[in-house]
Amino acid sequence: MTHGARIRGIGDYRPATVVSNHDMAAIVETSDEWIRTRVGIENRRKAGPEETVVTMGAAAAAKAVADAGVDVSDIDLVLVATCSLVGTMPHAAPRIATTLGIPSPGAVDLNAACAGFCYGLSFAADAVRSGTARNVLVIGSEKLSDITNWDDRGTCILFGDGAGAAVVGRADDGVEGIGPVTWGSAGDLSEFITMNDKLQMVMEGQSVYRWATGTLPGVVRQILDRTGMDAASLDGLVLHQANLRIIESVARTLKLGDDVVIGRDIIESGNTSAASIPLAMSSLRASGEVSSGDRLLLLGFGSGLSYAGQVVTCP
Ligand SMILES: CC(C)(COP(=O)(O)OP(=O)(O)OC[C@H]1O[C@@H](n2cnc3c(N)ncnc32)[C@H](O)[C@@H]1OP(=O)(O)O)[C@@H](O)C(=O)NCCC(=O)NCCS
Repeated sequence: MTHGARIRGIGDYRPATVVSNHDMAAIVETSDEWIRTRVGIENRRKAGPEETVVTMGAAAAAKAVADAGVDVSDIDLVLVATCSLVGTMPHAAPRIATTLGIPSPGAVDLNAACAGFCYGLSFAADAVRSGTARNVLVIGSEKLSDITNWDDRGTCILFGDGAGAAVVGRADDGVEGIGPVTWGSAGDLSEFITMNDKLQMVMEGQSVYRWATGTLPGVVRQILDRTGMDAASLDGLVLHQANLRIIESVARTLKLGDDVVIGRDIIESGNTSAASIPLAMSSLRASGEVSSGDRLLLLGFGSGLSYAGQVVTCP
């Protein structure tokens, strides 16, 4: 028997420490004005020593499980999207599952950098539709402060820490809540975002910016085509929160109506890589800008250069 899939609940975790642009200006030669104008960020969060990919991911996941109203014993698979787990063994998913008391689920980490959450949603939806899993926890959790070069003003002002999560389960009413994924990559451009020998991020910002603004509108159109929707019937657009100018440029190119809500969590959270899309969804829901049943187009993109996106129904 096949089932539809939907997001049943979401959750987030934001570290308590807020780092403003003025705080950044005490670390590197920059200014609030430069950062706001070029990237749109005002604040970002920084995890403390006790806050890790595992603890933040578990906290966001616990909220998503409560929001979904599922029992942990009904979760069959835990997927953790992360690119900042320092020390890749043991991976994060089984440790998060244990923290939550989920009894022996399938547990795997996946790394598609900032696109990881949308890849995870797609894998989760397929597992639910095929009957392999009843419920899947999809978590994006990042402690990017661990892999940031705090001497490089071109990158350190961009990134933040945090986690977001979703429970994907059956759509018993038969209405599909997670649309077909559009994914792809441009490995020939992968030198645009890499790591140095100290395991710190290195980025060719302008090259990424040009690629993103040139490529992403076409990817959004493909997602809509595959879903059988036009842009006018979307309620919201939640792109990976890399740069407010990229988000607004894509929205302008697509000529989205004024009534389409746009995720702008980057202003308060910075770029949190795989966590940015569920964090942005959570903040839109918390502010009442989107509500249950709204159709949101999600699109993650980043190192690789990999991307993935789909239309989902807001829980
Ligand atoms: C990173 C980014 C904000 C940089 O903005 P930019 O307009 O491209 O800036 P540039 O790198 O060309 O640098 C322009 C100047 O600003 C300077 N600059 C860089 N960072 C600065 C900072 N934080 N504060 C002040 N000046 C800065 C540079 O040194 C350079 O100075 P110069 O002209 O004297 O050499 C922008 O390129 C960007 O957002 N790119 C996309 C990033 C992205 O999407 N990444 C995805 C990761 S998942």
